[in-house]
Amino acid sequence: MIKISRKILSTLEEAAKKASRNAYTPYSSFPVGAALLAEDGEIYVGCNVENASFGLTNCAERSVMFTAVADGRGRGDFSAMLIYTPGETCHAPCGACRQVLNEFFEPEAYIYSSCDSGEVVAWTMDELLPDSFELSPRPKDS
Ligand code: THU
Repeated sequence: MIKISRKILSTLEEAAKKASRNAYTPYSSFPVGAALLAEDGEIYVGCNVENASFGLTNCAERSVMFTAVADGRGRGDFSAMLIYTPGETCHAPCGACRQVLNEFFEPEAYIYSSCDSGEVVAWTMDELLPDSFELSPRPKDS
């Protein structure tokens, strides 16, 4: 897996930022957007959806991944993900999201983070979650 082109990165940035406008964040006022690039070029978007219980909040990264799976995608179908967080500091995905992303991304796949400073930070999946928990052998896609 190689890093994606500047042009595709800009498209993902725009899509993630747009998706963040649909985030439901009455408790944190921290709207996050995520854009997930499938191998065939299709882009899925997601946002965080909060809940009064707090613990049932769904992050943008998991929202978009579950949407793509509901559309028939699975392990090996994804090239990259980009998240947008508001403010001048780019944020890394939370621990729960790292475990979920690890289920579907190859270790070499890139996860990007953008914010209002214009900076884009990139990590490989393996950098985000080294020595990850996996059932052995990994289950086949069904
Ligand atoms: N959030 C995400 O959407 N993604 C992350 O990786 C970390 C946090 C959301 C959850 C909550 O709605 C808000 O950001 C503040 O934590």
